[in-house]
Amino acid sequence: MKPKPTSEFIWDYAPAPESTDHVKIESRYGLFINGKFVAPKSKKYFGTYNPATDEKLADIAEANAADVDLAFSAAHNAYEKVWKKMPPKERAKYIFRIARVIQERARELSVIESMDGGKPIRESRDFDIPTAANHFFYYAGWADKLDYAFPNRKPKSLGVVAQIIPWNFPLLMAAWKIAPALATGNTVVLKPAESTSLSALKLAEIIRDCDLPPGVVNIITGFADTGKAMVTHPQANKIAFTGSTDVGKYIQKATAGTNKKLTLELGGKAAHIIFDDAPINQAVEGIVNGIFFNQGHVCCAGSRLFLQENVADEVIRKLKDRMKTLIVGDPLDKNTDIGAINNKQQLEKINKYLKIGLEEGLEIYQSDCVLPKKGCFCKPTLFLNVAQSNRIMQEEIFGPVLAIQTFRTIEEVIEKANNTPYGLSAGVWTDKGAKIFHLTSKLKAGVVWANTYNKFDPTSPFGGYKESGFGREGGLHGLMGYLDM
Ligand code: NAI
Ligand code: MG
Repeated sequence: MKPKPTSEFIWDYAPAPESTDHVKIESRYGLFINGKFVAPKSKKYFGTYNPATDEKLADIAEANAADVDLAFSAAHNAYEKVWKKMPPKERAKYIFRIARVIQERARELSVIESMDGGKPIRESRDFDIPTAANHFFYYAGWADKLDYAFPNRKPKSLGVVAQIIPWNFPLLMAAWKIAPALATGNTVVLKPAESTSLSALKLAEIIRDCDLPPGVVNIITGFADTGKAMVTHPQANKIAFTGSTDVGKYIQKATAGTNKKLTLELGGKAAHIIFDDAPINQAVEGIVNGIFFNQGHVCCAGSRLFLQENVADEVIRKLKDRMKTLIVGDPLDKNTDIGAINNKQQLEKINKYLKIGLEEGLEIYQSDCVLPKKGCFCKPTLFLNVAQSNRIMQEEIFGPVLAIQTFRTIEEVIEKANNTPYGLSAGVWTDKGAKIFHLTSKLKAGVVWANTYNKFDPTSPFGGYKESGFGREGGLHGLMGYLDM
């Protein structure tokens, strides 16, 4: 696939595809239980596909309740016999080793992430994989310092934890979940999302090659039913979930009245606010990063844009110009800005919202890029003159679709920004520090970025308010959800 020229202003880039010949993908993957890949008791497998080409990449095992049970028994044994007795500084060495091997195999992991999930190689190479390694490095450091992190509180591990992750940052979400769980002395059963299991299975290989004691980390694959069996398993002492708000609510109900600890990181509809004293060119770059990064498959994507009225025309003009230069296409091409939509259902969902926006009578703008004929792709899209009541403004679309409104005063924008069931993140662009601090205390959002957007670091906690969930991941706070104290 050749990247398509997207504007009369720019020239056509020569294709710059990342090679795939160094990547080894088995034709079939079993479940990683007790340190080994084993065939599923269910005897069932399902395909995982490249959303940019519709090509099947591998068959993946579908774990049933009996398989889930085996994984929890392995995790329980490993906890009782090995992991909880191991001196923390020894545990740290394993976590550190996993970080090192992720770094060593970064190129292979990046290509697999882009093939299986559709994200641009530039992103998986420069963001997902290095940040995943950083999480293991960071939490390796905490393993033997928990008494200093939480003085006088005698922190204790929980036992076996169940972790269920989504498809938007497959390896990075696995790292967010596994690294703090191991550092705090727990053992793990993790399930990746059904459309992006490959990088987690590669992580299983890495964990095996790092000689982590069998059963400390178990990685099982499957659909919602596998997840349900994990959530209700009697040996799961904690559930950590990232994904849709609907499934989050289901899990909260399913675990109500039990002793299971729970953290939920769910949807979002972030407000991205641009004041008239903002550095406009940088803000436009921030808006593009906020909503088009990873095809908008980001729970904290800046999907609602609020422009102060006197700069709205300028921002929209510059934003449209910038969108014309965005290259949509082959995720493996190093020039690609926007890759493939992760899976067919998600593309259908985004297309449904584009239709809703038009039916609601909104003005739409899409760049004139030509989409590849095969695969799941979507043009970067703006909806203009949107009202608070429009569904485009209220509901999570999880695609490269931005809803734009204007405002006059700071009070007005705070009220509009908080008018959502979600509360995960927000962004603000202004020259005035005082305005930033005023907004950060008034916006109901777990993370507020100022004069930047979508910045992540393992040392910084992340999580939401309201229907975006509860609990924090990352930083010192990220340890708390895995400790009894
Ligand atoms: P989902 O919430 O259904 O899937 C996330 C994970 O949960 C997957 O591993 C899935 O197999 C598992 N799962 C599904 N049903 C379950 C159940 N009843 N019990 C236990 N585990 C279960 O997300 P889906 O359907 O892939 O995406 C739908 C929407 O969710 C997206 O359009 C987007 O709006 C939102 N989403 C939010 C994410 C976030 O980071 N907060 C990530 C992915 C999706
Ligand atoms: Mg896939």
